[in-house]
Amino acid sequence: MGMEDFFAQLPRGKEDKPLLFGMGELVYDFHDIDGLYFMLDRRLSGCMILMWAKPMNPDVKGTVTLNGRDIQQYVLTSMVQMGYMWILGVPLRGLVAEYGKEYTLHVEGFADTDGNIMDPQDFTVKGINKVEPQPMYAKHEAVALQTATEGIVLLENKCQLLPLAKGTTINLFGKGIYQFRNGAVGAGKITPRYSVDLKEAIRDSKEFALNEELVDFYSCDADKIPPAELLQGAKEKSDTAVMLITRAAGENMDSSSAKGEYYLSDAEDALMKILSEEFAHLMVILNVGYPIDVSFVERNDVDALLYTGFSGMLGGPAIVNILSGKENPSGKLTDTWAKDYFDIPSSRNFYDCVDKPRLDADCTDFVDTCYEEDIYVGYRYFTTFHKKPAYPFGYGLSYTDFVIEAEDLQYTKNNVSLIVHVKNMGERAGKEVVQIYVQKPDGVLEKPKRELIFFEKSCLLQPGETQSIQVDIPNRHLTSYSEEKAAYILEPGTYQIFVGNSMDASYCGEFQIQREEIIKQVANRMQPQQKIRTMSKWEKGAEFPEGKYSGIQEGKGSFEPYAKRSSYPAVFETEKPEEPVTFADVRKNSKLAERFTVQLSLEELARISIGASAGWGMEGVGEAGRVYQIEGYDLPEFPVSDGNSGVNLRVSNIGMPSGATIASTFNKALSEQVGRVIGEEARELGMPMILAPALNIHRNPLNGRQPEYFSEDPYQAGMMAGYYAKGLESAGVASCMKHMLANNCESSRKRNQSIISERALREIYFKAFELAMEVQMPATVMTGYNACNGCPTAADEDLIQGLLREENGFDGFVMTDWTSYDTVDVAAMIDAGNCWITPGSLDDTYTSQIVNGVKEGRIRLKRLQENVAFIIKTMARFA
Ligand code: BGC
Repeated sequence: MGMEDFFAQLPRGKEDKPLLFGMGELVYDFHDIDGLYFMLDRRLSGCMILMWAKPMNPDVKGTVTLNGRDIQQYVLTSMVQMGYMWILGVPLRGLVAEYGKEYTLHVEGFADTDGNIMDPQDFTVKGINKVEPQPMYAKHEAVALQTATEGIVLLENKCQLLPLAKGTTINLFGKGIYQFRNGAVGAGKITPRYSVDLKEAIRDSKEFALNEELVDFYSCDADKIPPAELLQGAKEKSDTAVMLITRAAGENMDSSSAKGEYYLSDAEDALMKILSEEFAHLMVILNVGYPIDVSFVERNDVDALLYTGFSGMLGGPAIVNILSGKENPSGKLTDTWAKDYFDIPSSRNFYDCVDKPRLDADCTDFVDTCYEEDIYVGYRYFTTFHKKPAYPFGYGLSYTDFVIEAEDLQYTKNNVSLIVHVKNMGERAGKEVVQIYVQKPDGVLEKPKRELIFFEKSCLLQPGETQSIQVDIPNRHLTSYSEEKAAYILEPGTYQIFVGNSMDASYCGEFQIQREEIIKQVANRMQPQQKIRTMSKWEKGAEFPEGKYSGIQEGKGSFEPYAKRSSYPAVFETEKPEEPVTFADVRKNSKLAERFTVQLSLEELARISIGASAGWGMEGVGEAGRVYQIEGYDLPEFPVSDGNSGVNLRVSNIGMPSGATIASTFNKALSEQVGRVIGEEARELGMPMILAPALNIHRNPLNGRQPEYFSEDPYQAGMMAGYYAKGLESAGVASCMKHMLANNCESSRKRNQSIISERALREIYFKAFELAMEVQMPATVMTGYNACNGCPTAADEDLIQGLLREENGFDGFVMTDWTSYDTVDVAAMIDAGNCWITPGSLDDTYTSQIVNGVKEGRIRLKRLQENVAFIIKTMARFA
């Protein structure tokens, strides 16, 4: 029976009593910490969702119990996104936490809007069954474990607290015990075969025991301070307290600088203080989706600090590997961790809902976000403006010491070369990340004090062992963008090179460039419509952004009129073939894609351009969308799925760490393996395309999608994402680099405009894509929901045809982000070269807009044909 039929047969009359029904079997997955609905309503984090058959009266309080235990914090609400259906969210986190165990959930006393009171109802709720690892996936899961382990960053290790001695009983504190997050919410969510959280991993380990009394105590799912006798018992077991701090993050909403989000909550603060006073040693583990305030380290004398990010299905065992010393930490920060949120240069130009409503993705307010900080993102700001961060970009400790030395620095015409030796001076084997930064000379253009131009992770070096790395950096990676010249240039002067294992790298040599060199002549394509004052180290008063130009734009109801800066000819000139060209022919020879496409009628072209799905995992196995199979051409099925960290379907599969944690490994080969594994599992599940990697820049840690994205640095983000895409495509699965461009927040994301200089666009935001495309030209690219400098990115011809295709040779297909048509005109998107409008529909709502667009001259037929040819070519390669 389908959902609609099910509803139809439910009692819904005026006299009928309200009835609650669970969706399918009431199995509670205690590893899915936030659940599917968190992204729509944060109160539903950790809840089991039950649906009402009738509209309910929220003023009538009912009773909910689990095995007789009263659950008062239930959520009774109706959801717009679910057709205003009423739901009951029952928070079960901490309460249902044993595999396969059954509980009785009793509900009574609720009333509907007609005044009928429900009959009491009982449900059996069961904890998920334990799933044992399958040998056939052992290799895939080994990659997940290695990535999670190498992605852990050790930020403090005073008095060598770590690794812990074998046999230690681990005292875990905090609600993080039950809220151990393995992934982000939304598109970056994982649906792993199984997950192992920290408490389970400690239980399973041979090295450590777990203080189970504390685990029981924290089933309250709150950061409570344990009673004195519990603390005393814990101290007798071990002199070390381990506090787990966790933060959710993901698509649809941004985080805020409130306590409990960027800052510690009062409860966390109080608990940490007690632990620091009571125990000889305090360790804090940050299972967080974004950098948070770490001023607690000094305040509470924290001895060891580990940042794990969201580390996927094997996050628990990865931490145990580090705690025990089985693995030596080698992760590095992909972001500068500031001493305070308001030290971050974008802080005044980021919608922070700390004292304002949280704007979700579908909010109807138009918001401007002015990138006043310009090129000074992350460490580029902190170094240039001499601001001390809590922890610098690229930082991460090891249990051993390395010495990094460079020699033979040379600059030839097109290349900087040097040899770097990295030697393990300590007593444990380990890996180190060699990082190379440049300080370019100021000229007409001001420059940041440091820019990353190379990194490489060493192999596992035994004590005393040295690895020598030959480094060759093409000079195009050293350029700056001159708007005046519309070119990537090398200005004359001294280029200083710094080599080390973090942003605080040491000077190792320099070279001169005598005359200005234009490395790539382009055209300015996406300049702001208005003059904006950007941050400058040269201009008095412009040292820190003020945030005057950002915020909700009262009275604005549309992005229109779109800034149309220039137009690019559609070049599709193909003659209709005499003999029909079939899709099978295109499979054999992709050059025939155009001749195939020219045979299609306007209606057929329109039909392929519009997706065939309601999207967002509602159909089939939970795919995000699919290409429409027009009749008579034998087009293959072409479903697409999200999957930065796995194949985001309702079918379980691999669960890799989130993008930021993959990036923390600084291991390009590993990123490629991650992509490869996800690709192999995608193929197995019938998915020819994965909507990943997501590689927007970490401009501000409060961006909801921070964990999905890779880094604050474009070179690092580009490389790690490029290798990820390479792995995916080597498995025969199309990748999708997203979301282009400057799509750096979730607040009102479909109505958010980034206002940004062309220099910053090219040196920071587009740079990440450009570098990723150097490593792997992706099959597809997804535009953003946002507008940039007056034009929605989905309808920006300068972006799609200019930057992407003309300048960078991209020849795959471009797609919109899901339901971009809510705010952007379909005809404008198609005419700009956006090939696939997603997720689309089966009726003619959107196809008619294309057909009419062509008839009315708002869409060039050739452009439409060209767009479709790109889709056909990609399908022939991957379907
Ligand atoms: C997200 C994309 C995702 C798409 C399909 C959108 O909401 O922004 O990243 O690929 O949905 O699920």
